[in-house]
This record gives sequence, structure tokens and C-alpha cells, in this order.
Amino acid sequence: MKLSSHPGTPGGRAACPQAADGAVGTQRPADARENGRLLVVGGEGLLGGALLDSGRREGLEVCATMQHADDPVAGIRRLDLAGPVEGWSLPRCSSAVLCAAITSLDACRRDPAGTRHINVSQTVRLADRLVSAGAFVVFVSSNLVFDGAKPCRPAADALCPETEYGRQKAEAERALAAFGESVAVVRLTKVVSPKWTLMRGWIEAWRSGRMVEAFADMVGAPIPLEVTVKGVLAVTHRRLAGIWQFSAATDVSYAEMARHLARRVGANAELVRDVSARTRVSLEHLPEHTTLDASRATRELGLRFPPPLEAVAAQCASA
Ligand SMILES: NC(=O)c1ccc[n+]([C@@H]2O[C@H](COP(=O)([O-])OP(=O)(O)OC[C@H]3O[C@@H](n4cnc5c(N)ncnc54)[C@H](OP(=O)(O)O)[C@@H]3O)[C@@H](O)[C@H]2O)c1
Repeated sequence: MKLSSHPGTPGGRAACPQAADGAVGTQRPADARENGRLLVVGGEGLLGGALLDSGRREGLEVCATMQHADDPVAGIRRLDLAGPVEGWSLPRCSSAVLCAAITSLDACRRDPAGTRHINVSQTVRLADRLVSAGAFVVFVSSNLVFDGAKPCRPAADALCPETEYGRQKAEAERALAAFGESVAVVRLTKVVSPKWTLMRGWIEAWRSGRMVEAFADMVGAPIPLEVTVKGVLAVTHRRLAGIWQFSAATDVSYAEMARHLARRVGANAELVRDVSARTRVSLEHLPEHTTLDASRATRELGLRFPPPLEAVAAQCASA
């Protein structure tokens, strides 16, 4: 796929106007303590774990479900979304963030029925129970509810997924919309953290003088994990319903990320070889753009999404 070229932007790609000036909103930060106990569904995952850690650090009342752990003293309750959620005893909570999901695009493509059971049916059933018990529910979704045909996708655009994972996210979003003001949807682009195994592997390779291959025709709009956590906590505790989008202002290719990171860690940027994703992996879809219009998050939550290459380097260079 040929990458589109948009003059006047750092990577030659379209920049979302709302985030380009780095504007910071003026509303007060959320005071999570105002709103009672937070339940993180899927506290073992990347985002769920970070929400749990951040909540605890801030002294919030926070509990979690995990698929493989049960520790009532630490506020951890076992929950496998594959099993029935009807009989599961709900922890006391005033809000919940639904992070548990099968997040591998490949797994969703290989087993659409099995993954749909978790990512749509069971997730919506659990949300129904939580909302009925009076909780405000935040569902974490993805830019892949769109086809990526245009940049800075407005939140209100019609959903048009091209992957099974994206179709499941879109279906869950539609079902959850029935809960009205009791639900928020937070769509994320690629969340980057020091745990990103792809980047860690690249750094390891460079340290031993090995070449890495990076996709020149696959793009992302990376956002730092801590900005994502801050935004999700703000939406949750202020019970801000509707659709939220967290995104960098521009897309960058994986080859650009690799070269930038190589320079940042002092490696030779010539140890990055551009390859086409199409020739290396079997893909359902290769979006041309992944950016979302994040203006509501910038304006109302005061979130600032750093330039995408900077986000990658800041998160991964010390890994
Ligand atoms: N990270 C991103 O860049 C990104 C971008 C857009 C959207 N999102 C969305 O954000 C949410 C959190 O993502 P993440 O990056 O934190 O994903 P993650 O690290 O894969 O976490 C998802 C968690 O859900 C668990 N899970 C899977 N099947 C389950 C089941 N049957 N019952 C209970 N738990 C189950 C997983 O456990 P196992 O690991 O043991 O399977 C994992 O701990 C997901 O909905 C994801 O789609 C993430």
C-alpha cells in the first residue's frame, strides 16, 4: 500500500488539527476520591494493570478482576469471561473499566465465534449487570472500528471495521450505546509502554549489532500508557459518557519508529531495513491511517498527546 503524502506535516502525513498545537484543556483534573470504588476488569493486562497501579498509587479505592488470580485481601477477584457472568458475584463498585478482552487480531480472525463470545457477548452482559447495579462503565475500544481510509477520524463517523477484532469492538460499542449516560467508550490508537516487546527486541538486536526489519507501509499513532491511564481515570471518575478518542496527531510508520528509536538509544540507524508488511505477514487489512480526532480529550480532559516518534522514544528507549 502506498502511504498518502500530506505536505506541511512532520512525517509528510496529515496532522489532526486539534492536537497539533499541543493545547491543554482548562477543566480541573478529576478527583477520583469523589466517586467511590473503581473496578478494573482485566487487571492483569497492560492497561488494566497500569490502571490498578496508578489507582493504588493515588490512594483510590480500587479493586480488579483477573483471569488467573484470586486474592480477596488485595481486592482481586477471579473472573474468566469465557464462563457465565450471570452468577458471578459483583464486587461493590461505583465505576468499572472493561479492559479484559482477546486483543490479538490474529486470534480474532482465527476464532471469530470464540473471541466474539468474550469480546462482545460476555462483555456486554457484564456491562449490563454493572449498569443495573448503578455503576458507570467505561469500555475500551480501538481505532480499528474504522477502516483507516481517512486521517483524524471524527468520533461520530459511521463505524466501518475491516478486521474481525474491529468488528467485535464495533458490535460491543453499538450494544453498549443502549446504556446511554451510564457508559463511556474510549477508543485508543496504539498504546506504547516500556513493556512493548517489539521495541525491546529491536534494542536487543542493535546491542548485538544485528539488523532489524521494520514495516515501512504499516503506520500507527502511538500514545503513551501514562497519558492513556490519566485519561481513562478522568473519564471514569467524572462519569463522562459518550465517545472519547485518544490518539497522536499524526501517523508514523514502523520503519520511522525503528530509526528514531535506534538514534535515541545510540544504535546505528542503518541497522533498520525497510520491508513491506504485505510481504512478511498475512493481514486482514492494512489501514492507511490510524489517527483519531482526539479534540474532545484535549479540550475537556486536558490530555496532551506527544508527537508520535517522541512517544515511542520516551517510552521504549530505557527498556
Ligand atoms: N494496548 C493497545 O495498544 C490498545 C489499543 C486499542 C485498544 N486496546 C484495548 O484496550 C483494552 C486493554 O488492552 P491491553 O493492551 O491492556 O490488552 P492486554 O494486555 O491483552 O489485556 C487484556 C487482558 O484480558 C485478559 N483476558 C483475555 N481473555 C479473558 C477472559 N476470557 N476472561 C478474563 N480476562 C481475559 C487477558 O488475559 P491473557 O493475557 O491471560 O489472555 C489480558 O490480561 C482491550 O480491550 C484492547 O482491545 C488496547
